[in-house]
Amino acid sequence: MASVKIEHVTKSFGDNIILKDFSAEFEDGQFATLLGPSGCGKTTMLRMIAGFEKPDEGEISIGGRKVNGKDVFVPPENRGLGMVFQSYAVWPHMTVFDNVAYPLKLKKMPKEEIRQRVMEILEIVHMDQYEKRRPSELSGGQQQRIALGRALAAQPGVMLLDEPLSNLDARLREDMRFEIKDIQQRFRMTVVYVTHDQSEAMTMSDIIYVINNGEIEQSGRPVDIYRKPREGFVRDFIGGVDLLSGEAEGGRIRLKGTDQGFICDENIHGSVEVAIRPDDIYIISPEGRFLSSKQ
Ligand SMILES: Nc1ncnc2c1ncn2[C@@H]1O[C@H](COP(=O)(O)OP(=O)(O)OP(=O)(O)O)[C@@H](O)[C@H]1O
Ligand SMILES: [Mg+2]
Repeated sequence: MASVKIEHVTKSFGDNIILKDFSAEFEDGQFATLLGPSGCGKTTMLRMIAGFEKPDEGEISIGGRKVNGKDVFVPPENRGLGMVFQSYAVWPHMTVFDNVAYPLKLKKMPKEEIRQRVMEILEIVHMDQYEKRRPSELSGGQQQRIALGRALAAQPGVMLLDEPLSNLDARLREDMRFEIKDIQQRFRMTVVYVTHDQSEAMTMSDIIYVINNGEIEQSGRPVDIYRKPREGFVRDFIGGVDLLSGEAEGGRIRLKGTDQGFICDENIHGSVEVAIRPDDIYIISPEGRFLSSKQ
């Protein structure tokens, strides 16, 4: 088990500033998600934690040990991390079984134990029927699951996952969400998970960091990000929303152009917008009979 601490990290490629003064602390055993649109810097951040990319400024520590900083650089293989990257790589010349067994052989685990662990992992990623195949005989989604299995096999303290489910169909993706979460809790791993899929972030995370243009817009528990977004970008990115304009006066908001309204705090005055999540809307008949919910 280990925590990951990122302090004031800045990173540019050429003239483009990709990450700006990025600070975050992922605690021991926490499932932390970096959520944001394509190109916002998620993979770059993960690659710096892994040691494949160096920050221009700032420090990164893993389990209390500085791995990036002034005059400090710990190479990826000595950071004690497991990782599955967006462009997953499995060894093409090895069978499925040997791919997953590889990190265990490096650890010099006894043969029988390796067999048991690998078969357990292959079952978890639904690939136990394929142990003798080679990656060229597998679909993209199946290769992705082997990459995940190989990273899990070593049971690292910290696991970096960059959109590990992106090539799977909707059903398998839901299934694997549950499996990854289960493994994370069973082995008490710290997971740093990258996705641009808000429902994945909402269902799996202990904490979400919403990132836009290389900066953290907001961090917090999924429910708080969903219910109390600090500003419009977070509000819209995290889920559907309906906006209604109104005027607040004397503890009541009157919706523009109607006599309808809502009760509100007495200290709110003037023009406001009322934001409503679709799952809060219930449609009922005039007699009060439930007809449907919007979501
Ligand atoms: N090696 C590089 N050289 C130059 N620019 C790069 C390099 N790697 C990434 N970038 C740029 O940095 C920005 C952030 O890229 P990054 O891969 O971190 O985004 P991302 O948030 O992971 O996006 P996605 O969701 O599409 O994977 C992009 O504009 C990208 O073009
Ligand atoms: Mg990426």
